[in-house]
Amino acid sequence: MEKYLDLKNTIDYSKLKFAGEIIKNGGLVLFPTETVYGIGANGLDENAVKKIYMAKGRKQDNPLILHISDFNMLSKIAKNISEIEYTLIKAFWPGPFTIILNRTDIVPDIVTAGLDTVGVRMPSGNIAKELISYAGVPIAAPSANISGRPSGTNISDIFQELSDKVDYIIDGGECEVGLESTVVRVIDGIPNILRPGKISPEDIQKTVGTVKVDDHILKNIKMDEKVLSPGMKYRHYAPKSKCILVYSPNNQKMIEKVREISKGYHNPLIISCNENANCYDVRNKIMYGSKENLREIAQNIFKDLRKVDEFEPDIVIIEGVKSEGIGLAIMNRLIRACEYHYIKV
Ligand code: TXA
Ligand code: MG
Repeated sequence: MEKYLDLKNTIDYSKLKFAGEIIKNGGLVLFPTETVYGIGANGLDENAVKKIYMAKGRKQDNPLILHISDFNMLSKIAKNISEIEYTLIKAFWPGPFTIILNRTDIVPDIVTAGLDTVGVRMPSGNIAKELISYAGVPIAAPSANISGRPSGTNISDIFQELSDKVDYIIDGGECEVGLESTVVRVIDGIPNILRPGKISPEDIQKTVGTVKVDDHILKNIKMDEKVLSPGMKYRHYAPKSKCILVYSPNNQKMIEKVREISKGYHNPLIISCNENANCYDVRNKIMYGSKENLREIAQNIFKDLRKVDEFEPDIVIIEGVKSEGIGLAIMNRLIRACEYHYIKV
């Protein structure tokens, strides 16, 4: 297939020149970053960005992140960057960290959904970095998934839903982090986490001394509520099957609660840590990784959520994790995947 570039086992990034041209000329490219795959377009080209919203079926009031490869690009799209914002940028770029900054006039309204701020990220993934350099423009890119579905962390998961909507596909294998970037906005000198990710509240606290975790991260949000980030309020990551999230800091209590719920159903599917899987006497199970390794769970969770409907379960019961470090991001995604059906015991 001509529009598919396999970079899984090569570091010959010169092949990305062609993909860079496609971006520059207004096309859409599916590409890997260290967090999740993105659907990229020239972030300074209004018509190109429009195609992203169409491909994803994304609401127009939900702004996009601009991905950059150098600081020259930053000064073109953002202004009045404060000292604390620079400190965060220097600490966490390139990497899974998005910062909301005051935007310049060069950024089309469609990127920011009309806001006077713009989300900016410098990814660390080599393919993403080279692609942006070849394109020579900031790349607007949301996570690669139809809106509401789990984000794509490998090409085979998203090929069916997106391949005919893009002009080019770059396969870089599995994404390293598996969850989208941490989104931060500095307000009155305090970094507010609007979406948790691998860069944790603890990491930010260590760097600048303060951090605030937005109330909405582990909470339900009403559609008419005013939130700092439009993406917070939409249905997200959810399989078609009904899902329930169960967590207790006491592992035995969590196991008992999961067992109890599963007894009320004919065909329950249990998603648990490797260590607990043997405790459940049900036909359908998915193991998301060791509870001692939250990074592994983060990397697997979207892939696992994409599998659940195949089992045609009448309930999906998912074990939660401790909301520390990247665990906060895992719980944020799981709570949304379960549409706020969350039982803490
Ligand atoms: O890791 C990532 O961030 C991935 C990869 C592809 O880079 N991208 C990603 O984009 O997750 P997306 O569009 O799926 O999520 C962007 C989030 C949304 O929740 C959006 O509402 C928020 O960032 N956002 C973007 N610009 C914003 C702004 N100016 N103010 C507040 N929130 C903003
Ligand atoms: Mg997304």
